[in-house]
Amino acid sequence: ILAARPWSCHARPEPPLNVRGAESSRPSAYTARPFRKPTMPYANLLIETAAGIRTITINRPDKLNALNRDTVTELRAAFEQAATDPRVRVIVLAGSGAKAFVAGADITELAKLSPVEALEFSRYGQELMLRIERYGKPVIAKIQGFALGGGLELAMACHLRIASDAAKIGQPEINLGVIPGFGGTQRLLRLAGRSATLELCLLGHHIGAQRAYELGAFTSVVAAEQLDGEVQKIAEQLAASAPQAVRGVLDAVLIGGEMHIDGGLDYESQAFAICAATADM
Ligand code: COA
Repeated sequence: ILAARPWSCHARPEPPLNVRGAESSRPSAYTARPFRKPTMPYANLLIETAAGIRTITINRPDKLNALNRDTVTELRAAFEQAATDPRVRVIVLAGSGAKAFVAGADITELAKLSPVEALEFSRYGQELMLRIERYGKPVIAKIQGFALGGGLELAMACHLRIASDAAKIGQPEINLGVIPGFGGTQRLLRLAGRSATLELCLLGHHIGAQRAYELGAFTSVVAAEQLDGEVQKIAEQLAASAPQAVRGVLDAVLIGGEMHIDGGLDYESQAFAICAATADM
């Protein structure tokens, strides 16, 4: 049971619990202090923060935001930094330019990997995806174009995927003689089921936004010109919600949901109980 306790089973610094009697952690405290400033210089990321919403934009538009190793390293650092920043309530993850969220792992680097390096690179990427999935703060993927290979894997590690009707997804690795290596076979299976996962991973073709939505791979699809507004609206709603309850939902679903139901239910009870320690309940 101890192993199933929400706050003990994965290593990460805990934000201060909003203890009953303390000032409410609801967003007034945040909206009262709007700010917008870059936090760290990154070569391949743009970082913006406003009213509790941190936007992390992968900024390699000339390479369709492909995930080279440096970008994966920067994403790991950016998520780590935001995890302990109490000003950050929600992350929006985006790709630069109109064409792609992320067009995959960087093919030019993949081609040079030895088997040992490929194993290490796969695990390096998987660690980032797992960190995002178990983040404890909600992460929204804003998908305006291609989300392919590692780009789809990155989007699937996020908690909500809000897409333009022009977006396209795929796991095209098979066309390069390899398989998804950043969790695609596992997360697509959980989101969209076995039949669609085998189709996408074996045939390597792209599918459009509407079909991705129908399969459960997208949370919602909106007209391209409405994407920014829709993402902003959802991010503001999440930033205004009780943070411990938000975290409880994420952890109960994403960590408890991977356990046997007895452990998952126990996990849910403990996350539920922790909410009672906050001023928000
Ligand atoms: N890794 C590295 N570079 C990539 C890339 C990737 N995954 N995807 C696109 N790029 C680069 C292209 O090489 C090109 O660079 P260049 O102008 O220096 O030659 C640039 O991004 C634009 O891509 P381009 O192919 O010219 O655009 P397009 O509109 O003709 O096609 C795609 C768009 C997404 C269909 C196509 O780029 C593609 O299939 N990319 C690879 C997707 C993939 O297999 N991902 C999984 C990798 S494991």
